[in-house]
Amino acid sequence: MSADSEMDVLGSLDAMMHPYREKYQTFSEIPQQGVPRDQVLKQMEELQQTERDRWKEGFASGSVYNGDDEHIAFVNKVYNLQSQVNQLHTDLWPSAAKFEAEIVAMTANMLGAEKAGAPVGTENGICGSVTSGGSESILLAMKTHRDYFREKRGITAPEMVAPISAHAAFHKAAQYFNIKINVTPLDENFRANVAAMRAAITPNTIALVASAVNFPYGTIDPIDEIGALAEEHKINLHVDGCLGGYLLPWAEKLGAPVPPFDFRVPGVSSMSCDTHKYGYAPKGTSVVLYRGQELRQHQYFTLADWPGGLYYSPTFSGSRPGGLSAACWASLVSVGETGYLKATGSILDAVKKMHEGLLTIPGLKILGQPIGPFAFGSDEVNIYQVMDQLSARGWALTGLLNPAAIHVSPTLRWAQPGVAERFVAHVRESVEYVRENPDLEGGMAPIYGMAAAIPDRSFVHEMLRQVMDVYYRL
Ligand SMILES: Cc1ncc(COP(=O)(O)O)c(C=O)c1O
Repeated sequence: MSADSEMDVLGSLDAMMHPYREKYQTFSEIPQQGVPRDQVLKQMEELQQTERDRWKEGFASGSVYNGDDEHIAFVNKVYNLQSQVNQLHTDLWPSAAKFEAEIVAMTANMLGAEKAGAPVGTENGICGSVTSGGSESILLAMKTHRDYFREKRGITAPEMVAPISAHAAFHKAAQYFNIKINVTPLDENFRANVAAMRAAITPNTIALVASAVNFPYGTIDPIDEIGALAEEHKINLHVDGCLGGYLLPWAEKLGAPVPPFDFRVPGVSSMSCDTHKYGYAPKGTSVVLYRGQELRQHQYFTLADWPGGLYYSPTFSGSRPGGLSAACWASLVSVGETGYLKATGSILDAVKKMHEGLLTIPGLKILGQPIGPFAFGSDEVNIYQVMDQLSARGWALTGLLNPAAIHVSPTLRWAQPGVAERFVAHVRESVEYVRENPDLEGGMAPIYGMAAAIPDRSFVHEMLRQVMDVYYRL
């Protein structure tokens, strides 16, 4: 890619990320006189209106998982009531401790704690913490496994084994906490290749990683086999249920072919499970779970000799927004099992319609056998050009690399009448257009093509760093 085209890409990203420069005042300093609240609110309302329709009408993969007006009004009301709460000060707000302990317990039991003979509240039972999101849950879990094995076995050069489909947050954990990550390939069904994982285990391996479901393809790794591998080597296994954790238990109850994926599998030591995705809580909460309180102890931070007082904090943040935990708790208890079953059923119905429709479009294929989120690709048309056509029709989807494909996380917005049908119709139109116009230029297709193919990965890293710089431009 030439320097000129790099500038073009950054220029168009700049325009996409900062469309309000001309319309609204830019503040680079604290205004001398405060802006009247009604003016601030007016601007907020305008922004909300401008940005609302795409996700509301079911054009966005993931992002807003519930989005129902009444649900939003309800969780916002709860947030308003609890917006001043900081979990760091349990003396002032013991309600925060109630909400978080119950969020953890409800999630643990949904993921098999009782059935696994590891009841919540017992020393060897499933326990955990509420975190700010999936990445924090994963980072905490991997730090915990690292510290646990440093203490138990003196491992000072820790390694993890993760299938290539494991979320980027495992790589982040590897970088942040100096854990070597051994990445293994998938099998032909886009699930972890267990033989490859076995071969990647070394005396320094502290943990194996598996996903239920993984982000790219929505497939479930063979958790029972990977659990057995972890037990055989006496190492830990983290199952990433950030995306699938609040979907699979209900899908299983509805009769979907969900293989064992949670604490019912004996080798599973920890799990991450996002309440802010299919748990329908507002953004900013997730749960990390451990088998046994001893493991969780290695997550905690304590400081005994600080002039600022005796200090402890279970997760990465110090002060934390109690309103988010309250809203999360309110979401779980108000939706309830019947609500989750109904929501999951309607999402799975939409997925079925989409799969059936996509498979009638010549040249398209679904990757693996996903439940819920899924990916589709093609050996015949440039799928990134198809994605550009879908973007032009309003869709906000994710492009996958190696193999090139498009990822969709269907939410309750996609379960609205007509959305699945509209999606299939737009994919059909887009594929036909790309077949008729294979030499299309512009859009994201060349960037994705370049990002997948360019041998100099440091160039891609540099480009991504520049994208973040663009985000922080005024
Ligand atoms: C499987 C999986 N794990 C982890 C994450 C990270 O979650 P978050 O974006 O909340 O940090 C995601 C996000 O989509 C995910 O799909």
